[in-house]
Amino acid sequence: MLLAFEDDGPGPVVVLLHGFPLNHSMWKAQLAKIGSLYRVIAPDLRGHGRTAAPTGIYTMDEMADDVLDLLNALQLKEPVVLGGLSMGGYIALSLIARHPERVRALMLMDTRAGADSTATANARLELANTVESSRSNVPVIDAMLHKLFSEMTRSHHADRIEPIRQMMEKTPVRAVAGALRGMAARPDRTSDLARINVPTLVLVGEDDPITPPAEARTMAEAIPGAQFEIIPNAGHLAPLENPSASNTAILRFLASLP
Ligand code: MLT
Repeated sequence: MLLAFEDDGPGPVVVLLHGFPLNHSMWKAQLAKIGSLYRVIAPDLRGHGRTAAPTGIYTMDEMADDVLDLLNALQLKEPVVLGGLSMGGYIALSLIARHPERVRALMLMDTRAGADSTATANARLELANTVESSRSNVPVIDAMLHKLFSEMTRSHHADRIEPIRQMMEKTPVRAVAGALRGMAARPDRTSDLARINVPTLVLVGEDDPITPPAEARTMAEAIPGAQFEIIPNAGHLAPLENPSASNTAILRFLASLP
């Protein structure tokens, strides 16, 4: 499926994959800052943003294949820097595991390599059913929104929360259910981490309750030579909550690439 995308800036390509159930505009601060030095491509993943929402289960492999189709459509045969936040990270891990030749560096943000526990997977499947039967994303927004942001964002940057709520609201129910089912079915990629042989940055918000820093650190330690950055005053959406510290970390990593 052909993804809608934002494509901005000169130079080496950096692809950024958004989290669930958001769209490319969560990368606004990165498109502006990193896009001044690099060509940032930020797709709307299957069912999200301006990309069509087919029915069915959105597996991480299929979503990664969509990204590959986009790179091919843009004639980007050289390996790219691939970054993903949370669900975007699950997709990035699928892509690099199956097509390592397309990735020259990896950025894993507020994400994890492990699969869902049975309880988490069951809760997701139940949420998918609820969203479909109520034809509304409100149950997902209610379950997620309060967990995404740090205390600092809530108290000092509340204006960053509403656009995220709106993004979640706009994502079609079909896509929300499809992605929930796809995430519930995703494989455990922990054993792939030791095989990653490109420079890798693991970045996490210090107050991320969904993929906490301790878990991100363990993931970074499993990837040979990975850099690890904790972003202060940020929760699960670190690049959006603290764009200046996140952009500094990302640009430092990009500048270090051969
Ligand atoms: C996301 O931000 O993409 C989600 O929190 C991922 C998840 O629910 O595992």
